[in-house]
Amino acid sequence: METLKIKVLIIEDEKPYLRLMDAFLAEASAHGRDFEAASAETLAQALELLKKTPFDIILSDLFLPDSAGLETFTAIHGRAPDTPVVLLTGLENDAVAEEAMRRGAQDYLLKKTINPESLARAIMYAIERNGIEVSLRASEERYRTLIDALDDAIVVFDQELRVIMANPAFKTALRPEDPRAEVTGRKLPEVVSALPEKCEKLCLQALSEGRIITAEEPSVWNNRQSVLEIKCVPVLAAGIPRRVVVVARDITERKQVEQLRDDFASLVSHELRSPLTSITAGIGMVLEDGGRRLTEEEKMLLTVSYKDAQRLDRIISKLLEMSRLKSGPSRFKKTLADVVGLADEAIERFTPRAKTRNIELKRRYSAAKIETLLDTDGITEVFTNLLSNALKFTAKGSVEIGVAQQGDRIECYVKDTGAGIPKENQPCLFQKFMRFGKPVAEDEKGTGLGLFIVKEILRRHNGTLAVSSEPGIGTTFTFTLPKILCEEVQDAGGKQETKRQ
Ligand SMILES: Nc1ncnc2c1ncn2[C@@H]1O[C@H](COP(=O)(O)OP(=O)(O)OP(=O)(O)O)[C@@H](O)[C@H]1O
Ligand SMILES: [Mg+2]
Repeated sequence: METLKIKVLIIEDEKPYLRLMDAFLAEASAHGRDFEAASAETLAQALELLKKTPFDIILSDLFLPDSAGLETFTAIHGRAPDTPVVLLTGLENDAVAEEAMRRGAQDYLLKKTINPESLARAIMYAIERNGIEVSLRASEERYRTLIDALDDAIVVFDQELRVIMANPAFKTALRPEDPRAEVTGRKLPEVVSALPEKCEKLCLQALSEGRIITAEEPSVWNNRQSVLEIKCVPVLAAGIPRRVVVVARDITERKQVEQLRDDFASLVSHELRSPLTSITAGIGMVLEDGGRRLTEEEKMLLTVSYKDAQRLDRIISKLLEMSRLKSGPSRFKKTLADVVGLADEAIERFTPRAKTRNIELKRRYSAAKIETLLDTDGITEVFTNLLSNALKFTAKGSVEIGVAQQGDRIECYVKDTGAGIPKENQPCLFQKFMRFGKPVAEDEKGTGLGLFIVKEILRRHNGTLAVSSEPGIGTTFTFTLPKILCEEVQDAGGKQETKRQ
């Protein structure tokens, strides 16, 4: 098999030395490496050759008849920036050669110590190193182009929160008064005055905890009061966060649309509630009192209307619960309450439905009473939604509810032996209006808001929510609440101490 020749350009004006180098390369070639050498005695000749032919490596003296010192290297490197250059020098500690290396030369060789073997090795290493550098540069260039083209503002900080790089969107959107100013090397507070003050805290948190921190904060974006979504992503090196990438995005419009939609849903549901209550009550009374006087067909029609009205009522309740969540944490009144008691109450409410379906309801409590500070309406809603889902999607078997204290948290679960949730649907389970499965009973079709509400309520309790599900086997939703017996409350009543058990 023919090996590829390594094309070497030797730039050297001392003829005897040039011949020696040629001989070294020939000898190295005889031992397996195939070098093909060309030579130039002046810089002008070298530049001319480089214009016509690509070389794999350039070996060059810095002092030539028509050029001296760094100037020589700069000219050669400028003509062939991707070709590695190894300098040939007569001095042991050559300051000029060292400076050239800082500017991109691969190596320098002391002329008197060169032999065929060391020359071949230096050439191969220089080519290899240069190849890596060139591909790194190309890949950096690609990412740089991509980052520069993004509309999101991106800025990278080191551990001391000094800017390593910032993209044009960062400068134009967040520093519109001074978009051309160089920000590299400057510290976060002085550079990103446009970012919310909280950004510094978020970055430090991302660095210390080694995880992505996100927040939505008001700020000025392109001279306009806006809402920003800020993401602080720690970059690990050898497992330790060394840098943090901040990505900021203007989400004002999305927020406005969400607000409009929520206001609309809240208004419509309030307006629908009262007429619907009287419709449901009216049909219910006719069915109960006048039931005997109705024909079978009339009864059937009224029963369908009654069920639909009840379903509508459930939908409206969910929409109203959503607007309750939207109105912020002030609507949550946290008091010391027994989680086991709340689970029991929810189970009582679902017992008739479970009985008619022949589903066994099981309880597993680690103690008769497990108390923490919580919003009773909220946590009741959590149990109700999870139990309602479990019964809705379970045709046979059982539903088990568990409450246990685990260290400083209370862990609860609702486990069923129902249809399960396919893996591909699990990531978006907690988003609004997501429905996948078919309920056991057709008239139990929901709105797809239940789990979103559960997640939001738990978030406001500093709780967690997780799902594990196997299609055909069953589903377990597990949530945790912090065990807090007395919380620091900053309200009209003043401060109370914080105590955890
Ligand atoms: N225990 C479960 N078993 C199987 N699928 C489930 C279970 N819980 C939730 N799901 C799936 O997740 C979807 C979303 O649940 P979610 O509670 O948010 O909405 P929903 O029950 O359909 O309606 P809503 O609760 O608003 O009346 C359900 O439609 C169903 O596909
Ligand atoms: Mg539900």
